[in-house]
Amino acid sequence: MHLHYKIQQMKKPMPPRLPVRCSLRRTMAKRRHLRLFLYLSFLLFLSFFILHLTSSILRRANSLGRSCSPPSPPTFLSSSFPRSKIAIVTLSDESKESEIYYPGAWKRRSFVGVRKAVWGNKKSYAEKMGYGFVDATTLVDRSRPPNWSKVLAVRSSLRFYDWVFWNDAESILFGLIGHGDVQSSPDLVVTEDLNGVNSGVFFIRKSNWSQRFLEKWWNQTSFVQFGSTKSGDNAALSHLIDHLPQEELQLHVLISPMQCLFNSYPWYPSLKSYHLLISPQKTWQGAYSDGDFIVHFAGLDNKSGWALKYLQDV
Ligand SMILES: *[C@@H]1O[C@H](CO)[C@@H](O)[C@H](O)[C@H]1NC(C)=O
Ligand SMILES: *[C@@H]1O[C@H](CO)[C@@H](O)[C@H](O)[C@H]1NC(C)=O
Ligand SMILES: *[C@@H]1O[C@H](CO)[C@@H](O)[C@H](O)[C@H]1NC(C)=O
Ligand SMILES: *[C@@H]1O[C@H](CO)[C@@H](O)[C@H](O)[C@H]1NC(C)=O
Repeated sequence: MHLHYKIQQMKKPMPPRLPVRCSLRRTMAKRRHLRLFLYLSFLLFLSFFILHLTSSILRRANSLGRSCSPPSPPTFLSSSFPRSKIAIVTLSDESKESEIYYPGAWKRRSFVGVRKAVWGNKKSYAEKMGYGFVDATTLVDRSRPPNWSKVLAVRSSLRFYDWVFWNDAESILFGLIGHGDVQSSPDLVVTEDLNGVNSGVFFIRKSNWSQRFLEKWWNQTSFVQFGSTKSGDNAALSHLIDHLPQEELQLHVLISPMQCLFNSYPWYPSLKSYHLLISPQKTWQGAYSDGDFIVHFAGLDNKSGWALKYLQDV
């Protein structure tokens, strides 16, 4: 009995010697975590630093040597041609009815307040330059998302002017544009961003080609899209331009070599900043810099907030 008890006692596990190694391992793991944490914090800090640096560099792109004008001064700038009749056409649908087009997104993407923020700026610019200013808000066609109504607005104004300059409610005018010989000009002047041509800001000339083109654009009903942040008008324009015969494209459409000529986007650190790595050249060409003609708040929420901010800056 006694012996058995002893044996049993001896069989009891020895106090483990592991704890020393265990705590050592734990300390090492802790250190590894700490190192990883410090490393990640550093990376995060570095990215923030780089993004902020990039944002201030891009904002000064023009003074750092970027040139937004075409390489050679356009011949149409010469004063031997009669002055073209130019109109700035824009509309802004602030009505509650437009909510049905953007379920959920309406409040974020709202145009409420945009009109108040930018109308004065656009109108006084047009007056200063002797351009017409057409507010086509009454032409909104409610069978499609409001972005499509630009086609109707431009089509109806084109009868009265040589050139119509379309710009979305979410852009502001700043600088100067030239005038000249209307007849030898292209019919459609657009800019490209990362996604291709942008339908938010463009020039179109009074011509049969333009009238037909606008009609074709309006006819691209298969692109009409409801209930999303995209309404399809831009995709339809891209599609039309992509499918023009080469010869027609060369004769009638001018894609500005520099987006910043008249359609700059604000650049700020965001989740989309990785675009900078994918296409540094396009970012450089399209970022709004002090001195640019137009800033376009494409695809941004709180448009009136942005507009007020930029108007205060200039
Ligand atoms: C434009 O079309 C009209 C008829 O629709 C025609 O009378 C006119 O000659 C055309 N203009 C040009 C420049 O082709
Ligand atoms: C646009 O559609 C209308 C109606 O379907 C048609 O009459 C017209 O010819 C079309 N225009 C063009 C330029 O395709
Ligand atoms: C309307 O166009 C603007 C710019 O062109 C764009 O930011 C916006 O997302 C468009 N809205 C829809 C619903 O497509
Ligand atoms: C929009 O921007 C303005 C100005 O930057 C700001 O005061 C306002 O709070 C913003 N509104 C929303 C809904 O984010």
